[in-house]
Amino acid sequence: MNPSRRSLVVGAALAGAGGLALSAHSARAADRKVLRLHYRTIEVDGKPAKRYRVSQPSGEWGLTLEQGDMFDVRLENNLDVLSGLHWHGLNPPWRQDGVPYLSAPPIAPGKFADYRFPAQPTGTRWMHSHFGLQEQNLAAAPLIVRETEAVRSGIREVVVMFEDFSWRQPEAIFADLRKPKPAMAMGGGMQMTGNKPTTGGRTSMARSGGAMPAAAPKPDLNDVTYDAYLANDRTLADPEIFEVDAGADVRLRLINGAASSNFVVEFGGLEVTLLTVDGNPIVPVKLTALPLAIAQRADVMLRMPADKRAVPVVARGEGRTLQTGVILRPGGAAVEKVAINGATPAPEVSLALEKSLRASQPLASRPVDQTVPVDLTGNMAAYIWGMSIHGVEALPVTVEKGQRVELTMRNTTMMSHPMHLHGHSFQVVEIDGQRIAGAFRDTVLVTPRSTVKVAFDADNPGMWAFHCHNLYHMEAGMFATMVYRGFS
Ligand code: C2O
Ligand code: CU
Repeated sequence: MNPSRRSLVVGAALAGAGGLALSAHSARAADRKVLRLHYRTIEVDGKPAKRYRVSQPSGEWGLTLEQGDMFDVRLENNLDVLSGLHWHGLNPPWRQDGVPYLSAPPIAPGKFADYRFPAQPTGTRWMHSHFGLQEQNLAAAPLIVRETEAVRSGIREVVVMFEDFSWRQPEAIFADLRKPKPAMAMGGGMQMTGNKPTTGGRTSMARSGGAMPAAAPKPDLNDVTYDAYLANDRTLADPEIFEVDAGADVRLRLINGAASSNFVVEFGGLEVTLLTVDGNPIVPVKLTALPLAIAQRADVMLRMPADKRAVPVVARGEGRTLQTGVILRPGGAAVEKVAINGATPAPEVSLALEKSLRASQPLASRPVDQTVPVDLTGNMAAYIWGMSIHGVEALPVTVEKGQRVELTMRNTTMMSHPMHLHGHSFQVVEIDGQRIAGAFRDTVLVTPRSTVKVAFDADNPGMWAFHCHNLYHMEAGMFATMVYRGFS
């Protein structure tokens, strides 16, 4: 890479070199928002937990902008460790993407970095630390770019971010996952997750077909047993209660900000309308249960019952009974306690809904310039995860500006992987051989043994992260990059 003079200047401002960037934009200084990474104490099960938080000086959690706004942010690191934030789902210039050592150095304690770019695309996005395992300790917050249409509608909006919580430090969780395990203790998933993909990987694909042996391995749903799930930092022992009007529409902006948990969200039995996924509009779909993989977002329109009933919005961990949520309450309505454990475990998060989603504005049809095979690999016993690009572990995906690119993500393992590409929105165009004009996303779940193809136009030159958003899978190697040839 041959950084140009311009990118060096940008890099210096990002590294918090001083007030240079600020004075250059003083005409818009009033629009600049300050975000702080800092410590705070939350209460879980009546006990205090010191965790990270991202808020504005006003105390507001995260950031809400409107369509057409600049993302004009000074990010201050008030922690005593290196940190930073990635703007998940926004497509900024690559130097401002917040991935330490890839887009820019991390921010030192007491320093800041400045960001300024058009806040696009619109919709429900989020922000989180991309440094080490900090995301597990709640270094994350909502980042909403409200659509003009949503603003004009006057419809009430409620933002809910779901997270997973452990009393243990993430480094200890990870160390435990990495401990060598006796094969038998790993359960049924073992034999097949142990398969390294070979060039003849079709054999293992074939095994996932109809002729499964009786002792077929079951997918592994969760690596980590969490002590709590949080919705806006709270458990169901003391959930956040939003006052809403009986009979009114409420637009829920739901964010799965968990490090390692997929959820299924329910709305007290009500049918809701799914409007967007990962912030991007789809042909609306009605549903009563919404699968939400790690890092994904969904906007749903919910109509409050006319009879003044409170409505719980509850996310249950995939394969778990543990759940969390918030309450929508019309004035004065009684609020029933929602149990911290549901009656039955939430089902496995599958691709059934994904297959039925249609982008409201699909990619223009044109020939594909490049199809990139991406195998998702793993060795569960050793807890090593990987991505092999064109059959080579850790090779970057290389693209050229202007290309239509397809990524063929083939999951050779028995765990699902929420795959996230930075800097671009992609369209889901094929699931297990079935061609669709699917949703635009930035994170798509690739379930065990399935193959998901996504397409995008390469229009944002730079070096980008491309990885599994399960924090521990990423830390254990399921991380690659995408590089534009010849950019400067
Ligand atoms: Cu949500 Cu690489 O990030
Ligand atoms: Cu993964």
